[in-house]
Amino acid sequence: MGYLSTDKKKITTKTFAEMKQAAEKVTMLTAYDYTTAGIIDSAGIDSILIGDSASNVMAGNADTLPITVDQMIYHARSVVRAVNHALVICDMPFGSYQVSREEALRNACRMMKESGVDALKLEGGVEIVDTISGLIAAGIPVCGHLGLTPQSIHKFGGYGLRAKEEAEAAKLVSDAKALDEVGCFAIVLEKVPAAIASEVARQVKAVTIGIGAGSGCDGQVLVYADALGMTSGFKPKFLRHFAQVGQCMAAGVEEYVKCVKEGSFPGEAESY
Ligand code: KIV
Repeated sequence: MGYLSTDKKKITTKTFAEMKQAAEKVTMLTAYDYTTAGIIDSAGIDSILIGDSASNVMAGNADTLPITVDQMIYHARSVVRAVNHALVICDMPFGSYQVSREEALRNACRMMKESGVDALKLEGGVEIVDTISGLIAAGIPVCGHLGLTPQSIHKFGGYGLRAKEEAEAAKLVSDAKALDEVGCFAIVLEKVPAAIASEVARQVKAVTIGIGAGSGCDGQVLVYADALGMTSGFKPKFLRHFAQVGQCMAAGVEEYVKCVKEGSFPGEAESY
């Protein structure tokens, strides 16, 4: 139960499909902890992603590769405890689904059982379709992730735009169709040209969620700390700051330090 409660009905993967049918945009933000997830859920978001970007945002790592299944479960459980309304999706971290179909299913079952999330997200196209079909056969809803897939950062050699060239764009479209056919309920499209993302959105039943993929996707996702202005020095073209939470927190901390130093906090009303 979130500490800011909401009466809205719980969103499911079925609701996602209905939203695509009705051409209603799907909103998604990341969250990794109870307090933040409660605020985001109460504000009316449709979906919360416990992204493996927790590796960067929460732990300060340079990329998403170090985060483990145990750490993702810890973050996911904290988020699930706060959410009443949003569909909660959790990333399977690097190394947890690439070794074999069996190991992927074992890790996926553990993540569902121990975290209580509604669905899992995996990065990759045709190469992991067999793995995804195993998860879906076990009753686990799967969200795909194509384009810039940060778990493959060492293969790409950077965080630049993907699918610029014709061959990569064609592979992206066929990967998306393969994920759609195997039954993914949604597909994240990261940092790809808007025209390619729109084409994918038109061609698949799955709900396409863009990040740096233009307005033609069925929905949008951002890392909450980026969207709310908490990560200074990170401002790619696709990002908009919807608030200045970092500045607001810094001002609050400065005020607290000032009040303690000058002896005005705690005052009489704040003492027993
Ligand atoms: O890990 C993450 O936050 C993500 C989003 C950027 C889509 O995968």
